[in-house]
Amino acid sequence: MNKLTADELRETYLSFFESKGHARIPGASVIPENDPTVLFTTAGMHPLVPYLMGQMPHPAGTRLTDVQKCIRTGDIDAVGDSAHLTFFEMLGNWSLNDYFKPEAIAWSYEFLTTKLGFDPKDLYVTVFAGEDGIPRDDEAIALWKQQGLPDDHIFPLPREDNWWGPAGTTGPCGPDTEMFIDTGKPKCGPDCRPGCHCGKYIEIWNNVFMQYNKNAEGKFEPLGRHNVDTGMGVERTVCMLSGAATVFDTEIFAPIMAKIDELSHLGSDKSVASPNGAEDRGSGTPAASPKDAELTLRARRIVADHMRTATFILCDPKGGVKPGNIGANYVLRRLIRRAVRYSRFLGIAPGFTVKLAEVICEKYKHVYPELGVNLASCKNDLEAEENRFNQTLDKGAAMFAKVAEQLKLHNQTQISGKTAFKLYDTFGYPLEMTLELAKEQGLEVDVAGFEEANKKHQELSRTTSAGSFKAGLQDNSVVVTRMHTATHLLHAALHKVLGPTANQKGSNITPERLRFDFTWPEKMTDEQIKQVEDLVNQWIQQGIAVSKKVTTVEEAKNEGAMALFGSKYGDQVTLYTIGDVSKEICCGPHVENTSELGSFKITKEQSSSAGVRRIKAVIGNMTT
Ligand code: ALA
Repeated sequence: MNKLTADELRETYLSFFESKGHARIPGASVIPENDPTVLFTTAGMHPLVPYLMGQMPHPAGTRLTDVQKCIRTGDIDAVGDSAHLTFFEMLGNWSLNDYFKPEAIAWSYEFLTTKLGFDPKDLYVTVFAGEDGIPRDDEAIALWKQQGLPDDHIFPLPREDNWWGPAGTTGPCGPDTEMFIDTGKPKCGPDCRPGCHCGKYIEIWNNVFMQYNKNAEGKFEPLGRHNVDTGMGVERTVCMLSGAATVFDTEIFAPIMAKIDELSHLGSDKSVASPNGAEDRGSGTPAASPKDAELTLRARRIVADHMRTATFILCDPKGGVKPGNIGANYVLRRLIRRAVRYSRFLGIAPGFTVKLAEVICEKYKHVYPELGVNLASCKNDLEAEENRFNQTLDKGAAMFAKVAEQLKLHNQTQISGKTAFKLYDTFGYPLEMTLELAKEQGLEVDVAGFEEANKKHQELSRTTSAGSFKAGLQDNSVVVTRMHTATHLLHAALHKVLGPTANQKGSNITPERLRFDFTWPEKMTDEQIKQVEDLVNQWIQQGIAVSKKVTTVEEAKNEGAMALFGSKYGDQVTLYTIGDVSKEICCGPHVENTSELGSFKITKEQSSSAGVRRIKAVIGNMTT
């Protein structure tokens, strides 16, 4: 393997494809031009959609190559593992109705084995297995074999794995063939194969054969063109070439991680450090456990990832995306606030966001000049947002101090669930922060009581589990809130697709999935399920603000609000409105903007009881 740096990899890739007749074109902004279907540029093909569709010829010709800054926040909860990132650079080569599978596959193989020096025995590929009347990609299988790949390195997989696109809700798409490197780790089980998410096989490149267009009705129609769209992840490829254990251990992240460690005073001993240095404070907290070490590692990676993404958004030449409450602005706010929260977990002092932005800009400005030019304004925005969020957190902390004082006065050591919930509900103070401060002061928190209060408040059946914080800093209460809003969107979509008789009979939410029962006499067709799913995803993509007001049942009903299953309501009710999509009387809580849901997928549609159907659904992935 050739141990290339990111700089070397970009150049090797672009010049290789130039030698195959491709024109090198500049990458585009991370903020899409005139495209309401996505919040950010998610792939190299995105800015090329009109040319892939054949709406106009590209001025540079029919063979193009570039490197594109991409943002994908759909998997934000997975950041912290070895390979997931919310920002990454994508190398791409395109055929605009020019060459097709034979050249694309031959060049991919040549590049991987000769220019990057991967050993063919570590190379695995997946191809489209065929589905919905579109046949198995036997041509791709034959072409990989021609390159010398043995049968047991080629895996035909269904649409779920081997179909790419469109980038937004409509547009060009097609079957793909994905390339993986075997890390040499043991298989996680007998079914472990490329496409398994255990980390044994890392996907580094994807060739999409774009012969289809997904239209507004959700149908795949032949495009009448044979395009090739490819994407190679710079960070993952550099990781695989260097033999680093994770993308965060590559030269790309080295200066960023070093700065984080310097600011958190963890130094080189980070893998065994305890969060907050709690053991130094005589608080009676047990010494650092392996679990603490794991949380610390994860927090470092989250801070690094989120700050890199936020810096690229704020420095983008197109500009205009600032921390805020809707759409792309909200995504940016969430990234910065999550970084702030995890920085506190690492014991990093306020003011760190601008320091990390400086390091990130220094690392990238020779490739992306905007990171030099726009650093000053980026720092201003970061500082303002960090301060705003710190004020919220500090207000919560001041309340916490009062609570702790009272407890000590009464010789008690446990913060009640009700109090923890009040800190969260009234002061916006996340439970994770309460747990951290409590730990520092040798206090306990009645997490089960918090859940109870939360449950009562939300009228939801299950929320943050007592073990969830220990299990990995997951924001289960946040997941549940997002699911709750997804439930309202699902209800509205069912009304649109099936009509007003498809009424809610019950709902149940866990951090893993939502369940929704509704009156409907028969099994929903695949087409209906798809329409419902597409509608919800469309509303998520539109980034619609969710508003809340307190009113009377009478008034809410006059406004056309849905009120559920004959509930008895008090004089005052809360009415949640999602644009002109949904209006429901409900206790909440809900997200502020539908974009926070990322995406929506129905995993099951089944009978619940006579005349009642049950849907199970998940949220999460935004665009992939
Ligand atoms: N557009 C394809 C992807 O993002 C190459 O994977």
